[in-house]
Amino acid sequence: MRPTKNICCIGAGYVGGPTMSVIAQKNPSIKVTCVDLNESRIKAWNNENLDNLPIYEPGLAEVVAEARGRNLFFSTDVDKAIDEADMIFISVNTPTKTYGEGKGMAADLKYIELCARQIARVATNDKIIVEKSTLPVRTAEAVKSILDHTGNGVNFQILSNPEFLAEGTAIQDLQNADRVLIGGENTEDGKLAMQELVNIYASWLPKDRILTTNVWSSELSKLVANAFLAQRVSSINAISELCEVTEADVQEVAKAIGKDSRIGPKFLNASVGFGGSCFQKDILNLVYISKSLGLNEVADYWEQVIIMNDHQKNRFARKIVKTLYNTVADKKIAFLGWAFKKDTNDTRESAAIYIAEKLLHEQANITIYDPKVKEHQIFSDLEYLGTLDPEIIKQRVRVVNDPYLAMDQAHAIAILTEWDEFITYDWRRVYDKMVKPAFVFDGRGITDGLNLEKYDFQVFRLGKSITTNKG
Ligand code: UDX
Ligand code: UDX
Ligand code: ADP
Repeated sequence: MRPTKNICCIGAGYVGGPTMSVIAQKNPSIKVTCVDLNESRIKAWNNENLDNLPIYEPGLAEVVAEARGRNLFFSTDVDKAIDEADMIFISVNTPTKTYGEGKGMAADLKYIELCARQIARVATNDKIIVEKSTLPVRTAEAVKSILDHTGNGVNFQILSNPEFLAEGTAIQDLQNADRVLIGGENTEDGKLAMQELVNIYASWLPKDRILTTNVWSSELSKLVANAFLAQRVSSINAISELCEVTEADVQEVAKAIGKDSRIGPKFLNASVGFGGSCFQKDILNLVYISKSLGLNEVADYWEQVIIMNDHQKNRFARKIVKTLYNTVADKKIAFLGWAFKKDTNDTRESAAIYIAEKLLHEQANITIYDPKVKEHQIFSDLEYLGTLDPEIIKQRVRVVNDPYLAMDQAHAIAILTEWDEFITYDWRRVYDKMVKPAFVFDGRGITDGLNLEKYDFQVFRLGKSITTNKG
């Protein structure tokens, strides 16, 4: 097996872009080319002005500035990059299927299959193929089957190397990964291929953080890691509802249980519901796989995590309507935040989308401010739901660049993303400009330290009883 000098990554999205940037940064002697069919995305990756990169991640621009043009390249010439590469990462999107068998549950593998077929068509020498996208267990087998039938005598080794980075902390997660997981075949060639990939990561990570397993364990571990993380969020969210009616405080409960080293303190923030491209998709995938194998109890167990998450989003929207005297019709509701978490411009599966949908069905007017999400993205998220009349969206939704404008004359504020800047606002000024009584619905538990009640706000915080300055 020849040493890896040339890497290609198919898919320059939230995973492929940052991962390749860090691999290139840490391996200056390896040429890394990230390709994508989407021309405007590649153009943005090549933009001189680093503020215009297609994704926002703290620290990403600095890494791109260091490596781009040296050994990191972004291109739309997929065939050329495949041809030149010793190692090809597949990092294309694998959304939940929206049609046919497994609709709404199974992962749609059409983009993966297209990649495999393209590699099969173009490759003229042996290559290591690395699955980077989140995939259902046994996808490597399907990819292998396509690649092994090219008829041009090329050998492929398929590795699974799931990505564990979280958006908003992608660069930090890559540079200081808890672990890297590499799954491969237990054959001589399989081991050599795994070693090639181990070497790439070992250029910056300690060897004991690089785990090698069989392909299936690696593929399944990714789904399970995300399922466990999402389950923690649904667990604490379930407790938040209980806290609201018992006068317990969910943050105090989270702190108390997190001190148990078996439970640990992380990932216990009650929220308006988890979002992001992975959690829901991966759990649905796990549920689908379990059901297909006749493991109904296993499927039901994990499905409950999603049911709880949907419930959390619904009840937050209902709480707003109920508190505003059972009607939000023609009232202005200000949304602070649209991204699915802070420090990212990604909105996939964001709870804000579903809260907006519910409130629009109740004929509310919504004004949205998010520091990083663009207006066209918000409109496209709402239209994509397919449940709202496009005219209604146009009439009732406004996106603004100034948070004070968003909250001016609003009946209520809904905090849906935990952006740090939200707690720095002049809340006296906000209060003065709002319709009274002025309501705040804190879906992220970030306003505790602000004592908004002192300005006379009526505040609902998830996992706590509603409070006013009258107690
Ligand atoms: C997740 C996994 O963390 C990552 O390892 C995997 O590679 C991809 O999926 P990501 O979706 O980018 O990453 O972000 P994450 O930080 O996990 O947050 C997911 C959602 O859960 C967000 O909506 C976040 O706000 C929510 N969340 C997280 C909570 O509501 N409470 C918490 O305590 C933690
Ligand atoms: C538990 C709590 O751990 C403790 O904090 C509380 O005060 C009382 O309840 P206990 O029931 O004594 O303590 O033992 P624990 O070690 O928690 O085990 C409970 C059960 O879970 C046992 O049957 C154990 O075998 C099982 N278990 C535990 C597993 O099957 N797998 C594990 O990974 C851990
Ligand atoms: P992720 O969060 O998994 O990175 P994204 O949707 O952000 O998902 O990125 C996936 C990228 O893969 C998209 O930019 C898409 O255009 C690209 N892509 C999908 N199929 C192909 C293909 N066959 N060749 C090249 N790029 C592809």
